[in-house]
Amino acid sequence: MFRSIFQLFKIARKLASSGAVETINEIYNIPYSIKLFFDLFSIGSTKKINKSKKPGEKLCDALEGMGTTFIKLGQFLATRPDIIGETLADDLVKLQDKLPPFELYESKKILKKEIGENLYQNIVELSEPIAAASIAQVHIAKIKIDGDQKEVAVKILRPDIEKQFNEELDALMLFAYIVESLFSKTKRLKLIEVVHLLREITNIEMDLRFEAAAANELYENTKNDDGFNVPKIYWNYTTRKVLTLDKVDGISIREQELLKESGIDLKILSENLIQHFLKQAVRDGFFHGDMHQGNLFVDQKGNIIPVDFGIMGRLDKNNRKYLAEILYGFIQRDYIKVAEVHFEAGLIPQSASKEEFAQALRSVGEPIFGQSIKDISGGNLLAQLFEITEKFNMPTQTALLLLQKTMVTVEGVARKLYPDTNIWEISRPVLEDWIKGVKSPKATMDTVINTSSEILKRIPDFPNFMDKANYALQLLAEGKLNLGQKNNKGLEIEEMKLKNLRNNIIISFLGIVIAVLLVF
Ligand SMILES: Nc1ncnc2c1ncn2[C@@H]1O[C@H](COP(=O)(O)OP(=O)(O)O)[C@@H](O)[C@H]1O
Ligand SMILES: [Mg+2]
Repeated sequence: MFRSIFQLFKIARKLASSGAVETINEIYNIPYSIKLFFDLFSIGSTKKINKSKKPGEKLCDALEGMGTTFIKLGQFLATRPDIIGETLADDLVKLQDKLPPFELYESKKILKKEIGENLYQNIVELSEPIAAASIAQVHIAKIKIDGDQKEVAVKILRPDIEKQFNEELDALMLFAYIVESLFSKTKRLKLIEVVHLLREITNIEMDLRFEAAAANELYENTKNDDGFNVPKIYWNYTTRKVLTLDKVDGISIREQELLKESGIDLKILSENLIQHFLKQAVRDGFFHGDMHQGNLFVDQKGNIIPVDFGIMGRLDKNNRKYLAEILYGFIQRDYIKVAEVHFEAGLIPQSASKEEFAQALRSVGEPIFGQSIKDISGGNLLAQLFEITEKFNMPTQTALLLLQKTMVTVEGVARKLYPDTNIWEISRPVLEDWIKGVKSPKATMDTVINTSSEILKRIPDFPNFMDKANYALQLLAEGKLNLGQKNNKGLEIEEMKLKNLRNNIIISFLGIVIAVLLVF
């Protein structure tokens, strides 16, 4: 308990001196007593705030300066416009997940401890860090394996990051509890639940075996697909704190000039990117959920190579079918068909009017078709579709939200490569193939076989692994949903601990008072 209180004081000082409190006050009008509390803590510290920036930008600067826990908090809040509003959420998306690297000798120490002295001897060379973010950093290494020398990338967790993160979160939890207890108006912000969700999601991200398992599954799914190569995982050199995988031999997808010099056709690359993504989503129901330019590389032959498997999306059979039929229906401009898909799946209450619903769908689809090719976007179309289905009382499919967001990102990357990319023409064959495939009798057999091998694609040692990760990712993807539903055991336990803590504080306080009275 005292540790949490001490941490809370430390955080209060950090928050106050980073300028975050002032910025939050500009947006929310913090109660005077809380502001006074922070003002006390900021005495003697110099605030580095750039007054000309927007409040959201200033908040980004402040959070970036406060380290991992707050960068993660910012990233999490960026996905929750329902809590903090659209404007602030949009600003927080720009938060940079970068921190100064830790020293090479630290990396070596962690590596040796994690993989053991013997395997460590096989590491011939370890580079200085090539990238450093809030949770981990990446080195390049040469490892002797079966007489060969392999070039690999080694991602290593920041030293003591879990301990620091969880201690700071305990303190934030205490703070959330105090604020919610004192100011009932703030209950609407659901501070305790936000902190709890952040803990669940980030603790999974801080176990690199999840990322390794995800990479492995994507590798198995795509190993026969031309043009898409997932780096191989080295399991002996992978632990909770270390992830080792093939070094990517390629050019960042950002480096268009270099790509062109290597004779890569950017139009074809852009098409391939969209098709591979869509194929993985509808065929396998498993897709990379963080496909920004920094995570994509291209080799000399034009193969796409992704890295960073920390966020993955999963769609069940029904979601995949729904997604494929809806996108295809829109491409065909067959709004009645799209409406029927919703009714058949029981997604829209039977009492709703099919004609009215089809009309609403038309109002989404037609303006998009009226635009020039380069403005057409599947991701935006889905976003608008979800707005409409919500109006018709259909609960938003949580798994599809991450897909929709990723689709916007993928389309953005594709358009940067080739601005006239025609999303519809490129998506059509993938969707057609899949829909035809699902309807054939052979496909039914394949599904049975595939489902049973699904488990085998995962790593043998951790059968429950990805399910736990999926749960956390679902929480992350949920966007506007579910906060406020008290069906969460972990959260209940957390709240109980807080109540105990409050009682402890009261008891300790009374104890001190009694002791003082007795002495004097
Ligand atoms: N297998 C790899 N080969 C070469 N470079 C890599 C590899 N994995 C990661 N990197 C480099 O390290 C950077 C950070 O790795 P990433 O897995 O994206 O971590 P983060 O989750 O911090 O974004 C990547 O953007 C890439 O430049
Ligand atoms: Mg990355």
